[in-house]
Amino acid sequence: MFDALSGLPEQCIRAWELGMALTVSARAEIRQVMVTGLGGSAIGGDLLRIFAGKRLPVPVTVNRDYVLPKFVGPQTLLFATSYSGNTEETLSAYREAREKGAQIIALTTGGKLKAMAEKDGVPVITVPGGISPRAATGYLFLPTLAVLQKLGLLEPLDEQVAELSRHLQAMREQLKPETPLAENRAKQVAINFFQRIPVIWGASGTSEVVAQRWKGQVNENAKAPAYWNVFPELNHNELVGFQKPEELLRQLYIVILRDTQDHPRVQKRYAITREIMGGAVAGMDEIEATGNGDLARLYSLIYPGDYASVYLALLYGIDPGPVKVIDQLKARLA
Ligand code: F6R
Repeated sequence: MFDALSGLPEQCIRAWELGMALTVSARAEIRQVMVTGLGGSAIGGDLLRIFAGKRLPVPVTVNRDYVLPKFVGPQTLLFATSYSGNTEETLSAYREAREKGAQIIALTTGGKLKAMAEKDGVPVITVPGGISPRAATGYLFLPTLAVLQKLGLLEPLDEQVAELSRHLQAMREQLKPETPLAENRAKQVAINFFQRIPVIWGASGTSEVVAQRWKGQVNENAKAPAYWNVFPELNHNELVGFQKPEELLRQLYIVILRDTQDHPRVQKRYAITREIMGGAVAGMDEIEATGNGDLARLYSLIYPGDYASVYLALLYGIDPGPVKVIDQLKARLA
């Protein structure tokens, strides 16, 4: 897992190149963009929703189901994303998208999705296999940006992608196993999460997907529970729920994912919320976004969580790689 993690800066460049290499043109005016996928593959869609949502004149949505919303049709650009190419919900949504005449692009390492798309004459972006989907966020996200750039829907992002890769290279030096605890934020977070229940808070519309990602990474890598929520919504409900039962609350450790570019009122909410929470939970920490472009800033919040979840797995004496429970469930459904 450490190899896959440390390869992310190079993966991002390769992923971008793979997307840019696709020959693509729109059959009809694109009125909405959708990513259909599950788990690690859907997170790529969420990153697109957050990043491109701020830039595109059309809505970007993520579908995590067998079926598609009614509005999907010839004016929908639909990325059918499945790392394995064999996820049944994604295959079902792909078939429905075909029936509805959507403009589909398949993003996968192979499997049934690639076979079906090639037979149907649907463009396919084939990304390298051999790592777990959750370690492939570059492959499952950046090609979708490249396609949108090629279609003229996004401004050129080549510079941002280059900065992203450079920024991740610098970050991996700080996060890698050889970097001692005192300078390694991921190790510090993992120690604070150990034998506790992680709670990760992000900001709506930006780090919300990162908070969800941290939760998934703790689940799948460390095989442990974790929970996430977003500002400002959590100030309207979850905040009230930190009074009882006291013993349980002392098991919680909260990490807030912050960006100085978050809405100023949200930044004020972070500070007040911390004060209100006081000593109710085991502890609270903050991770700050770094970097210039939005892509680098987004990943600067993701990368520490990826490493922290693997360090947490090691603290629990667990192999972060296999997700046997998911495999068993898929096998029982077959
Ligand atoms: C993440 C993981 C799962 C899969 C999900 C869908 O590492 O193993 O969340 O991503 O079961 O499978 P794919 O991505 O192959 O469509």
